[in-house]
Amino acid sequence: MTDWNDHVERVLLSEAEIKEIIEKLARKIENDYSDKENIVLVGILKGSVTFLSDLMRALRIPAQVDFMRVSSYGDATTSSGNVNIILDINRKNLPSENLLIVEDIVDSGRTLKYLVTYLLNKGAKSVRTVTLLDKPDRREVDYTPEYVGKQIENHFVIGYGLDYGEKYRTLPYVGVIKPELI
Ligand code: IMP
Ligand code: MG
Repeated sequence: MTDWNDHVERVLLSEAEIKEIIEKLARKIENDYSDKENIVLVGILKGSVTFLSDLMRALRIPAQVDFMRVSSYGDATTSSGNVNIILDINRKNLPSENLLIVEDIVDSGRTLKYLVTYLLNKGAKSVRTVTLLDKPDRREVDYTPEYVGKQIENHFVIGYGLDYGEKYRTLPYVGVIKPELI
């Protein structure tokens, strides 16, 4: 039987480590938003689903949840920089809403840089981003997320929502994929 655990070279973040990171992020986020603000967590499908579902339950302030889906043409390990919106949010009260984009990982920075500008132009009151992982060495555009769970080196990682060719999202931890599989 295929076991995706065998496709992992090493575990980068265990389930316990992820939990700790998310608790810290939640406390920071709670601290930064006033309790009168309308907060909407905007998960970027599909990679952020696992992170979003844990983060939203760790947050002790009210927040709504919505989703977007984007595609950036490229192969499985790189993105081309052309960001396409496949599923958009459709909200009635955007001018009163503070959007917090929830992303799995920031690489070139193109996806988030594009989305922040897009959502501000669409009329959101504010737009910030939280990412579980960040690979700052891979940055191609000037973009810094407000909340970063953990900075990592330039490895291709899988699990906890992150995929390689749509596989491995269901692994409960973040691991480095065996290089021979790429
Ligand atoms: P960016 O626009 O180059 O910052 O790309 C970010 C997107 O690339 C993420 O949402 C992921 O879908 C994907 N990505 C980048 N690095 C990895 C990785 O190591 N594993 C899985 N997906 C990744
Ligand atoms: Mg993604």
